[in-house]
Order: sequence, then C-alpha cells, then structure tokens
Amino acid sequence: MKRTLITSALPYANGPLHFGHIAGAFLPADAYSRFRRLMGDDVLYVCGSDEYGIAVALSAQMAKRDPKDHVDIFHAINQDLFKKIGIKFDHYSRTTSPIHTETVLEFFQELNKNGHIEPKVTEQLYSVEDDKFLADRYVLGTCPKCGYENARGDECPKCAASFESTDLKNPRSKLTGSPLSKKETKHWFLRFDKFKGELMEWISKKDWKPNVVAFAKHYIEDLHPRAITRDSNWGIPLPLKDSEGKVFYVWFDAPIGYISASKEWAQISGDSKAWEKYWLDQKTNYVQFIGKDNIPFHAIFFPAMVMGQDKPYKQVDELPANEFYNFEGKKFNKSTGWTIDLERFFTNFSADQIRYAIAANAPETSDSEFSWRDFQNKVNSDLVGKYGNFANRVLTFIQNRLGDEELKADDYDEVDQTFLADIERLSVDIEKAYNSFKLRHASQLVMQLATLGNVYFDQKKPWVLVKELETKPQLIATLACCLHCLKVLAMVSSPIIPTAALEIWGMLGLPKALDKINFRDEVEVINSEQMKLKKPKILFSKVEDSVIQNELDLLEKANIEPIKEKLEPLKELIAFDDFQKLDLRVGKILEAVKVPKSKKLLKLKIDIGLEERTIVSGIASNFPDPSVLEGQKAIIVANLKPAKLMGIESQGMLLSAGDTILELPKLESSSLGATVR
Ligand code: 2FM
Ligand code: ZN
Repeated sequence: MKRTLITSALPYANGPLHFGHIAGAFLPADAYSRFRRLMGDDVLYVCGSDEYGIAVALSAQMAKRDPKDHVDIFHAINQDLFKKIGIKFDHYSRTTSPIHTETVLEFFQELNKNGHIEPKVTEQLYSVEDDKFLADRYVLGTCPKCGYENARGDECPKCAASFESTDLKNPRSKLTGSPLSKKETKHWFLRFDKFKGELMEWISKKDWKPNVVAFAKHYIEDLHPRAITRDSNWGIPLPLKDSEGKVFYVWFDAPIGYISASKEWAQISGDSKAWEKYWLDQKTNYVQFIGKDNIPFHAIFFPAMVMGQDKPYKQVDELPANEFYNFEGKKFNKSTGWTIDLERFFTNFSADQIRYAIAANAPETSDSEFSWRDFQNKVNSDLVGKYGNFANRVLTFIQNRLGDEELKADDYDEVDQTFLADIERLSVDIEKAYNSFKLRHASQLVMQLATLGNVYFDQKKPWVLVKELETKPQLIATLACCLHCLKVLAMVSSPIIPTAALEIWGMLGLPKALDKINFRDEVEVINSEQMKLKKPKILFSKVEDSVIQNELDLLEKANIEPIKEKLEPLKELIAFDDFQKLDLRVGKILEAVKVPKSKKLLKLKIDIGLEERTIVSGIASNFPDPSVLEGQKAIIVANLKPAKLMGIESQGMLLSAGDTILELPKLESSSLGATVR
C-alpha cells in the first residue's frame, strides 16, 4: 500500500484565518488527502497552530493579553473554521505542546552534536527606549533587496526575501517608531552554508514549479549561517548554560511541528511509534502544502535541518506552493473590514459551496480572488445547474417512473458505449489533475462530467423510452449508464465537495461506504443492480441576488468607514464675521519649484493682481513635477501673517485638496473677500 504523508503550513495562532489562507495551504491539501485515500493510500494528514515567535508575542502585546491566552483563543477559533469548512486533519496540534518542545530540543541537540551550531557574538538591533533587543516583527525598515520601506525584521512582504534584521536599512521599532541601533549580543547560528552542495544536488532533481526551484537555487548560492535564536521570553528556551533569555527562532521550531504533530497523533491513536512509518521510511511520499511566502523555509532551511539529523527523516517530495487568494480585488484585511464575516457566511451558505468556489478558482499559477458575483455564479451555474441538476433529474425520474425496480442492463448501444468510454476517460483526467495538484482543473473536469451526464440524458430521452414496452431494455441501459455516471461523479467530486458527494452516495444506496471502496474498481464496474436507491434530495439551492447584494452593500460600507475613521472630527462652528476676516484671492501661479532638502514643500510665485506673492506649500508629494502647476489659477488666503518655512518667508496660504488645487475657473484675479462661499 502506498503511504502518503501530507502537511499544511502551520498557521500562526495570532488572528482568525480567512478564505485566503484556506485557498493557499488547506483546501488543496485536504482535497489531495481525500483523493489519495480514495485511491487506497495509507494517508496521514497533520497540521497545527504555530504559536511561538515574535509575531505572536507582538500581536498578544497589542491585544494586551498574555501570549498563551492569546494563542489559546485563536487556536480554538481557527480549529472551528477548519471544522466548518471540512478540512479533515488526522491531527491538529500546537507548537506549545510538550511533545513539540521535546522534538525541537532533540533536533537542536543533534545538529549541535554534529557540529552544525555555532555561538557567535554579533550586533543586533537594540532599542534604547525599551532597553531591549528587538527582532523580527518588532522591527520595520527598508528591504535590503528591493527597497520596500515597510519590510519586516526577518522578511520582506513585497519581494519575499528573507534576511537578518540587521540587514535592514533605517531600522525602527514597530511599536514606537523610534530608530534602532546595533549592539552586541550572543546568538546561536546554524551553519546552513555547510549544506549548500547537498541542497543544490537535492533540489536540482525536483520537478516542482519552476519558480520554486529557481528561487531556491538562487538562494542556495548565497547561503550563509543564520541565527536560530532570539532574545525573547516567548518561545522554546535554549537548553544551554549560557543561554538565558534566548529562545529558538520561530522558523527553527515551526517546521519541526510537522513531526511533533505526527508523534502526538500516534500517541493519541494508541501506538506511540505509529508516526515512524511515515517519517522514517524512505518509501513514504511526503507532500507539503504551503503559500508562496513560505518557500525558503520549506525548500532550503528545513531540508538542511533534516540533513543535519542522524535519524533518516523523510525529506519533502512535493512542495505545492500556492499564490495568494484575495478578496474583491484587495487582500483580505480584518482590521479594515475587507473580509467575510464567517459566522454569517456559514449561516447563509454551505461548506461545499465555498470549497467549490475556491477550488474552481484556486491560486495555483497566479494570484486569484474570491468575489461575491463569481461565488454566486459558480454555485448557481455549476453546482445547481449542472451537478445538482443531473443527480436530481436521474434519481427523480427513476423514482417516479420505475420505483424500486431492479436496473440490470444486458446490452448497451453505441451512444451508451461512447458515454461510458467518456466517463472512463474523464475519470483518468481527473485523477491526473488531482495527482499533479491542479485542483482548479480537477473541478472543471468534474463539471464536465456532470455536463456529459446531462447531455446524454437529453440525448437518450428516457421519458420517451419509458412509454413503450419494446424500448424498455434501452431505458434500463440508459438509466444504468446514468447511475454509473452519478456514482463516478460522487467519487471524483468527493475531494472538493465531500458533503454533496456523500449525499449522492447515500441516495444511490451502494453496498460499500464511500470511504471503503477502491476508486478504480468502482469506475470499471457498472453495478446499478446493486443499488438500493433512496428518496432524492435537493443537493444545492440557488444563491439569490438579494443575498449577494446585501453582502456587497456591507462591503461598500466597510470601504467607506475606514476613510471616515481617518478624518479629523469637524471643528466648532464659526460666526460669519469670523469667516469674513479671511481675505481670499484668486491668483495665477507663475512659478512652482521644489524647496531644496524638503520632501514636502513647494515654493510658488503667485500673481494676485495687486502684487506678486511667494507662498510655501506642503503639497510636493502630490506634484512630482511641480511645473504642471504653472499657469493654473488657485485660491489663496492673502491675509495670513507671513511665516518662515525652511528659511523662506511664506506670504499666504494656498488652498488645496490632495492633488487638486482649489481653482475657480470663471473668476478673474480680484478681491473676493467673503464672497467665495
Ligand atoms: O507563514 C506562516 O503562517 C507560518 N506560521 C508558517 C509555518 S509553516 C511551518 F514551518 F510550520
Ligand atoms: Zn523586498
């Protein structure tokens, strides 16, 4: 029996997961594990919460919670989402579990014993204000690779580079914004450089996505020792004498979580050694599902850590790295409300509906997104119109016209045989799609199979065949073929829409349970006579326009609210007399130039009719080429007391709104006084 080990990247337990995460590392893994089980493999699918690390500590600090309380909350919330959406792990662990600490220490001791760990005193970023070293997510700065100004301390969200905090340019504290300086401290380094040759040889044999292999190779060329410890009190403490205040870097401990989750699964299942047959047997096929931002850790760092062990841990065989899955054109973002309320979602919709919508649009080769209209369309046209319709019309027809009669066909005509051959061919294609992690293609093929069934049903017209006694054999053959198609449809769709597939399986009344059959055997045998058909149920119902409109309206509100929040509150009312004190003039901009050494200021020469004024205005960022202002008319406050800005006397104020100069085109330069209203 083939043995398959499957893992999904451990999600941080510092916030609620959304469909973007589900589309990246979870639904593809869950569907793959369901598919491999259907093919008869011995599958172990594990995951767990990633609970240590600076990102978690920082998020707990911001929420004013103890880190352990913080991760307890999100571990439970995220497990609940997995349950609702039908992600079926064999075990979902957490990195704060004792077995994880034990496994991490064992990994470290072995690397240390084998000479791959070196302590080194280095300069790290230090915050004088907080009197402590700050690392990773506590630090922001300019990416050394691409120049992005808001790169994090250990990685760049823009170009996916991963580096040391000290490599950042202009480092600053994320909490206070204050600049950080370098100070000496001792850390433990893993000599990744020693694995360069072995890693390069190993990765060169992989036929993974070209971007993954190319990225990894490029990275390996420049591989150097990296600190695997941090100054923090939230993490697994180093087990050495002189290592007080040091914990393991989260990216050292997290991937070991795949092993500790498997060990914990084994303990719970009553055979504490059961994990070994997956992890220590080289015949295991090991597939890691990750998001593209996790590539270096899974293609380089963890494999090197495994290479440094004495135990023959299984290296990853396949690394499907998915792109990002956004929401209506933007990243999911809970804090701005640009997200889906999951409680409302699962009140209105089902797990199968969202699983299908994500699978059909999975971010496999490029970023993709969830949109409400696409969701409605996928449900109504595919799940209701093709899949549900085929199941319903076949089963309702048989129930109404033939009752419990046994459907045993003796002869199949040419149309039947072509149909059966097409079912077989599509089942092979679907198998290939699942095996090559093409969930999007697999879902298209599943719908092709449903369409094939509908077209065949229309072509054979069983409602005509049922009328005459002499066409009864053709009728029985037609319905036997339809039931076979339905059976195959249930099997091939079960990795994506398991609830509906199980419903069909139940309605067909087959002798063996869906999780006990062998896929290939069932595709090859037409066994309609063994079916004890049950009363048909509707599998999917239409998503109405009003429900989608309601979601879109709520989203529009979310789009507006954050802007409102950022606006200054309105000031107190002023009397008309106060307003009249303003001397507003329309002037013509004669010259607009940047103020040297200032990013914000422009120096403008403005003709207000009576005289020429010099006005310094903070609008430079809106006008990269200030000369576009020359010749334009603008309103200025002409009686503001002069003030010096960057050594230049500003004789008034220009009224503007972002990149719009408040210009009244029909007015000539003249005194406006209080008439500009
Ligand atoms: O990027 C993330 O969300 C990490 N928590 C993934 C960890 S994967 C693994 F190594 F555990
Ligand atoms: Zn970058």
